[in-house]
Amino acid sequence: MIHNAKNHNNSQLSLIEIRKFRYQNKKYNFDKNYRFIDLFAGIGGFRLGLESDNNKCVFSSEWDKDSQKTYEKNFGIFPHGDINKININDIPNFDILTAGFPCQPFSKIGLRQGFKHKSQGNLFFNIAEILKKKKPISFILENVSGLLTHKSKNVKTLDIMFAELEKIGYEVHYKLIDSSFFNVPQIRRRVFIVGFLKSYFPRITNFKFPQGINSKVEIGKFIERHRDGYCISKKLQKSYIYKFKDKFPEIVDEKSKFQVKTLVSSYHKIQRITGTFVKDGKTGLRLLSENECKAIMGFPKKFVFPVSRTQMYRQLGNAVVVPVVKEIGKEVISVLSELKKNYGKKFKKSA
Ligand SMILES: C[S@@+](CC[C@H](N)C(=O)[O-])C[C@H]1O[C@@H](n2cnc3c(N)ncnc32)[C@H](O)[C@@H]1O
Repeated sequence: MIHNAKNHNNSQLSLIEIRKFRYQNKKYNFDKNYRFIDLFAGIGGFRLGLESDNNKCVFSSEWDKDSQKTYEKNFGIFPHGDINKININDIPNFDILTAGFPCQPFSKIGLRQGFKHKSQGNLFFNIAEILKKKKPISFILENVSGLLTHKSKNVKTLDIMFAELEKIGYEVHYKLIDSSFFNVPQIRRRVFIVGFLKSYFPRITNFKFPQGINSKVEIGKFIERHRDGYCISKKLQKSYIYKFKDKFPEIVDEKSKFQVKTLVSSYHKIQRITGTFVKDGKTGLRLLSENECKAIMGFPKKFVFPVSRTQMYRQLGNAVVVPVVKEIGKEVISVLSELKKNYGKKFKKSA
């Protein structure tokens, strides 16, 4: 859906505000490859989704030491650190900015402090600053679903963000996307925001978020048998997991025909009601294995974690679902390719 300041209700297509003379007849300077940057990179979920023979990652930033380690091991590049310390002039030119910016301040289970969050709440403005100075032709942002309803002093946080992005010159689209429509066995709803720099486009772009498919991939197919090392002790099962009668956690095995709940970054803390556990192992119940978590997040099996198990869960629970960003990336590239193809043709000045 395209954003309209008066209406960004998630369920309906809003009317498009007519913009006169949005097209400044500027020609965008495309390189041979599409270049993107990976901000708040985590372990590179966006990079895995977007990188290909034609799309190159030219810069990444991530400040967490363990995530940097995983990133380096898998991509051979050590990301730049704290975004606040990056000199924007040092970022090479690029076409697409990607960022799954920290969601704690907006998450339903977080404190909902939004922009007031001491260190993390204003990181959106770091992104805005980079967009303002570098003026890439497009961007893809990701955040938790709580962003849709979060307010700062009675003003929707999303409205503040959209106003800022539009002020910089972007046409803004957003959608709540559930990864369960993208071939992973997990229900995970995240907000994606995509933008295109209006001055380069003769008319409103025909960007559409991918629909995905209703194929409902089952978790059972990915469950490993006889995996030891992830066991939940009998004592913990008795004293905590099965002690209360109110609600039990989601238990899966290789016959389970459904999709699991969202993998959260604190999964290792074994949450009785919100967690998903596997009927397997020496004690009869265990945590999801590394391979199972990779399947849930759409990460390739060959992806490696040179960090502790706790970090592995935290990093995957914080990541983006790779097939989702891959499909969104394709739609963004298709808009850019269309523009490139049409250079030389005459555009009418239009809305
Ligand atoms: C929601 S996670 C993004 C995960 C990523 N999209 C992925 O696929 O792995 C947000 C990331 O932002 C990083 N971060 C938070 N504050 C930062 C800062 N000031 N500078 C750089 N990275 C930061 C966190 O360490 C965290 O890994």
